[in-house]
Amino acid sequence: MPKALVAGNWKMNGLRAALVEIEKIDAHSADKSPDVLICPATTLLSEAAEKTTKIAIGAQDCHQNTSGAHTGDISPEMIRDAGASYVILGHSERRVDHGESDALVNDKTQSAWAAGLRAIICVGETLEQRKAGKASETVAHQLRNAIPTGATADNLAIAYEPVWAIGTGLVPELNDIDEMHRMIRAELRDIGVQDSDETRILYGGSMKASNATEIAAIEDVNGGLVGGASLSAEQFCPIIDAFSN
Ligand code: PGA
Repeated sequence: MPKALVAGNWKMNGLRAALVEIEKIDAHSADKSPDVLICPATTLLSEAAEKTTKIAIGAQDCHQNTSGAHTGDISPEMIRDAGASYVILGHSERRVDHGESDALVNDKTQSAWAAGLRAIICVGETLEQRKAGKASETVAHQLRNAIPTGATADNLAIAYEPVWAIGTGLVPELNDIDEMHRMIRAELRDIGVQDSDETRILYGGSMKASNATEIAAIEDVNGGLVGGASLSAEQFCPIIDAFSN
């Protein structure tokens, strides 16, 4: 079983005053068994990296190029230079807000790896796709197209985030999470991800202290990608604890 990864996605939240929460999460994470990651806004990356010693810091997106005329974008090298080690790619909010395709996520992942970042690729079905019985098909298609060759358990994690569960308080039935994570594991094997059984598959979508323990008990759930409940140490630390052995 891979070591769990509990990741917080701060999205477009958090001013410098919120760095104190990251420091509290860092202090809490000493001697805990899961790896812990916080992905704050780009403006906080370097300060967050400077203030932490136990947890990893990551970005929420990157451009596919190393540098150049791309106003407003951030390259993987810049993220690495700021002291971060992870980047979230293909989050459903980026797929919707910015029209990101699996092909673009694939390109971004290759650039992230070239800069020495680990990638967390997000996949997940909409409610319409689930109701139409197409959840597995949708996610398998995303995995096959978004994951580049050269993926390993070290440079890749997958976050399964049903779009309808993000920020809504709705969570799938535990057996649905179980089924999707098994399917994702099988796809990772098929795709030829190196050490696929050790590759972390995170669950994301309205995870909180009150449901983290039962979700963490599912065999192929190897961590969480947490949005709202990662913004305060008080809410996030019990989730870290739920993934501690
Ligand atoms: P949520 O967001 O925990 O607020 O549902 C999860 C995510 O989008 O990564």
